[in-house]
Amino acid sequence: MSSIDQTKPSPARMYDFLLGGKENFEIDRQQVQIVLQDAPEARDAAVINRRFLAAATGYAASCGVKQFLDVGSGLPTQDNVHQVAQRMVPDASVVYVDNDPTVLLHAQGLLNDPRTGYINGDVMTPAEIISNPVTQELIDLTKPVALLLVAVLHFVPDGNDPYGIVHDLMEQLAPGSMLILSHVTTDEMSPVVSERISRQQLAVPLNLRSGKEILRFFDGLDLVDPPGFVFTEQWAPGKVLSADASQPLKLRCGVAVKP
Ligand SMILES: C[S@@+](CC[C@H](N)C(=O)[O-])C[C@H]1O[C@@H](n2cnc3c(N)ncnc32)[C@H](O)[C@@H]1O
Repeated sequence: MSSIDQTKPSPARMYDFLLGGKENFEIDRQQVQIVLQDAPEARDAAVINRRFLAAATGYAASCGVKQFLDVGSGLPTQDNVHQVAQRMVPDASVVYVDNDPTVLLHAQGLLNDPRTGYINGDVMTPAEIISNPVTQELIDLTKPVALLLVAVLHFVPDGNDPYGIVHDLMEQLAPGSMLILSHVTTDEMSPVVSERISRQQLAVPLNLRSGKEILRFFDGLDLVDPPGFVFTEQWAPGKVLSADASQPLKLRCGVAVKP
C-alpha cells in the first residue's frame, strides 16, 4: 500500500477542502487556491456535484437498484452513497473504490457495515475492480448495479482510454444497471480559463472535455430523460452557480440505463 505523502497535493484532499472538510494538508489548500484564482466558482461546483451524486443515487434506489459501485469515491463526507441508498433501500450494498491512500485510511470508518466495502483500486484497471473479492462478495453481477463515476474521469487522460474503461465496466454489469457520471466540462468556460487550468501544475492534472466528448461516455446506454445530459445543477435543482460567474467551471452529468 502506498503511504500518504504530505508534500504532494491529492485530488481527494483538495476536493475535501473545497467541500469544507478537514482531511487536507497545507499543500492541498495551496493548490485549491490556485484553482480558485482561475475558477472562483469551483467551490459551488463541488457542492452541486455532491448534490447530483446524492440525487442520482436516490433515483437509482427508487428504481429498485440495490447495488452500488462508486469508483473514485473520495473521502467520506456527508450523504455518502451507502447512506443515501440505505435510507431508501436498507439492504442496499455499496462498494467504494479509490486510489488515494488518504481515502483508504478514512474508509476504515465506513466498514462497520457488512453491506459496505472498500477497495484500494484504480479506475484505470477495471478488470481488477470487478474481480476483487470485495466486489465479488458484496455485488451480485447477475442483478442491476449502479456504477458511479462521479467527477473522476477527468483524471483519466485520453491516452488511458477513458471510453474503453467505461465500456469495460458496464460490460460486466447486468441489463438494468445504471451509469451515474459527471465530468468537468469546457462548455461555457472561457478558452483563456480552460487553457490556464490545463497548464496548471496540479499533481494529478485535469483533462478538460467538451460536453460532446463527455456525452460519448453514455454510448449504447439509454439516458434518463428528463433531465437528460445536462449541467449538474439541472440534474439536482437547488443552488445554482452565481450568475456573475462569467467563466464558470461546470460539470456535465447524466444517468443512463443499460438496455
Ligand atoms: C473530485 S473527487 C470526487 C469524489 C466523489 N466521486 C464525488 O463526486 O463527490 C475525485 C476522486 O477520484 C479519485 N481518483 C482520481 N484518480 C483516480 C483513479 N485513477 N482511480 C481511482 N480513483 C481516482 C480521487 O482520489 C478522488 O477521491
